[in-house]
Amino acid sequence: MAARGEFSSRTAFVLAAAGSAIGLGNIWGFPIQVASNGGGAFVFTYIVLTFLLAYPILMAELIIGRHAKTDTVSSILAVSSPGTRWLAYLTGYWGMLTASLILSFYSIIAGWMIAYFIGGFAELLGLVDVKAWLTEFSLSRNIIFCFVFYSLTISIVASGVSGGIERWSTRLMPALLLLMVLLIAYIATQDGAAEGWRVYLQPDFSRVLNPDLVINALSQAFFSLSLGVGTMMIYGSYVSKSENIAKLGASVAALDIGVAVLAGLLVIPAMYVALHNGVTIYDDAGNLIASDNLIFTVLPALFETMGSAGPVVAILFFSLMTIAALTSSISMLEVPVAYASESKNMPRAKAAWVVGGLVLLISLVIVFNFGTLFPLVIAFTTKYSEPLIGLLFCVFVGWIWHRNHILDEIKQGYPDAENGLFWKIWPTYVKFVCPLLVLALFWHSMS
Ligand code: TRP
Repeated sequence: MAARGEFSSRTAFVLAAAGSAIGLGNIWGFPIQVASNGGGAFVFTYIVLTFLLAYPILMAELIIGRHAKTDTVSSILAVSSPGTRWLAYLTGYWGMLTASLILSFYSIIAGWMIAYFIGGFAELLGLVDVKAWLTEFSLSRNIIFCFVFYSLTISIVASGVSGGIERWSTRLMPALLLLMVLLIAYIATQDGAAEGWRVYLQPDFSRVLNPDLVINALSQAFFSLSLGVGTMMIYGSYVSKSENIAKLGASVAALDIGVAVLAGLLVIPAMYVALHNGVTIYDDAGNLIASDNLIFTVLPALFETMGSAGPVVAILFFSLMTIAALTSSISMLEVPVAYASESKNMPRAKAAWVVGGLVLLISLVIVFNFGTLFPLVIAFTTKYSEPLIGLLFCVFVGWIWHRNHILDEIKQGYPDAENGLFWKIWPTYVKFVCPLLVLALFWHSMS
């Protein structure tokens, strides 16, 4: 068997894992949640929950992955006991299925981002009909751009860990940050932006503990850190044993939060600029209208009001979205591809095209039954599967895998782990606090 891939440096891992974490969830999902959940109050609760709940689960995944250094199904098996092998299989396969299903709906949205990106050029060239086709919902557009997005995702994954995932994450992530800062600066100069900054940065503390807000912040934190499907486990499996894994995980969580907060500084002020320019964003009752359509209705409407700068800003914005989506989609596809290549001995490039092709078929089924399947798949994966699988990861780390073996694993690359803060808090945390919190979340979202 060919040598296993590994990230070539600490920075490469952090950029790839942050690339996975930072995606449509940050730039699209987070600002929408902020706008519909009391502005800064949501930001505050989200940050607290990411550190209290999401970071410990992220660490559970990274540590299992780096310990076993294989695909996710085999990794969980490696930390199971003879009596819990069935549970390891269940967790591994369910995670792989969930990763594939998340990819299947994510790629449809990512395809729209590419279409809107090209739409900006069509507008610059005065191609009105082309632009209309690119930016209006249709079967043909959805199918074509889904294909385009899959080709990009599959090509990168087919090229392997260092030649594909690492190479593209380290190129695209700095570009993403640059684009974002440029856009924030530009929007900040527009009339109306100041009101957006105010709403965003002034938490209404009376809403911080609102149960719905807490639940939404928790699911958002899960999705945003790519937890509960094995993505972080497989990326962890490509980390060298000489790295301090607790520190790497903290950098990834911090970057993910940082970019979500930055995305808020872009999208929320942009909404208020749109409002200033006459675009309707809140209904009479004060609720955000068409919250899911924020990116595809409010922002394009805003770009229209910006005159000749409009198409350029649109191109920059949608290239930002496409980049963010791509560094995330490769991390989803990597989960089943690593399994096909390591457990089923398929050559990696073939595995990427075969598995990617199968997931594309699922996307097409969704595209043809959009109204029913799209929301259903999103709910099944993000609302139910991710938290429950995250809970199972905690069960393996907290209750099944031997505590001393975990410590031995962490000590590689962090010899003094035993005396550090991480080891004092984290084991108890994943054992009791995380499972209970996830159960509470789950209970609430079911009722
Ligand atoms: N975290 C990414 C985002 O915020 C999406 C993502 C990538 C993901 N890999 C994942 C979500 C695995 C859940 C599971 O957009």
